[in-house]
Amino acid sequence: MQLSSLKIIVTGAAQGMGAHFARRLAEAGAQVAAGDVKEAELAALAESAQGLPGKIHTHKLDVSNEAEVGGFVDWAYGAMGGLNGVINNAGILRDGLLVKKDRATGAITKLTKDQWDAVIGVNLTGATFMVRDAVAKMAEHEQKPGIVVNMSSVARHGNRGQSNYTSAKAALAANSVTWAREFAPFGVRVCAVAPGMVETPMTQGMNQKARDALVTAIPVGRIGLPEDLWLAVKFCIECDYFNGRVIDVDGGMSM
Ligand SMILES: NC(=O)c1ccc[n+]([C@@H]2O[C@H](COP(=O)([O-])OP(=O)(O)OC[C@H]3O[C@@H](n4cnc5c(N)ncnc54)[C@H](O)[C@@H]3O)[C@@H](O)[C@H]2O)c1
Repeated sequence: MQLSSLKIIVTGAAQGMGAHFARRLAEAGAQVAAGDVKEAELAALAESAQGLPGKIHTHKLDVSNEAEVGGFVDWAYGAMGGLNGVINNAGILRDGLLVKKDRATGAITKLTKDQWDAVIGVNLTGATFMVRDAVAKMAEHEQKPGIVVNMSSVARHGNRGQSNYTSAKAALAANSVTWAREFAPFGVRVCAVAPGMVETPMTQGMNQKARDALVTAIPVGRIGLPEDLWLAVKFCIECDYFNGRVIDVDGGMSM
């Protein structure tokens, strides 16, 4: 698919990779429906895209709210005059060991149900219902070809302190295969991109010591940039023979 032919939803578009993808798409002439819980940042994104060949339309979206996802898809279809793509990018972290023993006191703490539910609610349930509702809309209006790009993570292979996140990102990668098979009759491809560690607000809060330790595990010798991930997302969109597969973009990092 050509970038300029896209009428595409980007979730979690207010900052970080989502904002970068939305801008790159608008630069290429795409119509973008950008959703996020952060409305002020969304408005700034739309403003910054004035004058580009494409357009960024914005609307508040909480992907963990099923009714809001359906409403957003309806709005996006109307605002863009169609819909043929989704970048499922919204995501959160609520890291914690499943079971932790305090070295000094010996006290045991456990990952809470709130930590579990929050991450599964946004990163898995939210992403899944966005795919469901967007592809239902494409199928209903025979909008094809279509493309879904899911943002997974290299943490899908397992990462200490991230049971909740690993579960969600592994399921998204696996279901990219499931959905590629299910949506073939609708002419919709489904791919996933799995970042390693990328410079965005999600990672900027990390302490310097942890960041330095991570960089030593990246053969490329640096943390990734949103543009590194955009190249993979662009490939997923443009290569009509790429389907049901995950691209790891992690500088060769081992976790
Ligand atoms: N940054 C990394 O190192 C990294 C690594 C692997 C995977 N990822 C994944 O890439 C994606 C983008 O990450 P990022 O680093 O740009 O993160 P980020 O925190 O900078 O941006 C995520 C965006 O998602 C939005 N969001 C959160 N909850 C939402 C909800 N319920 N509904 C709608 N929007 C919501 C946030 O407001 C934010 O704008 C995420 O899915 C993340 O898990 C990031």
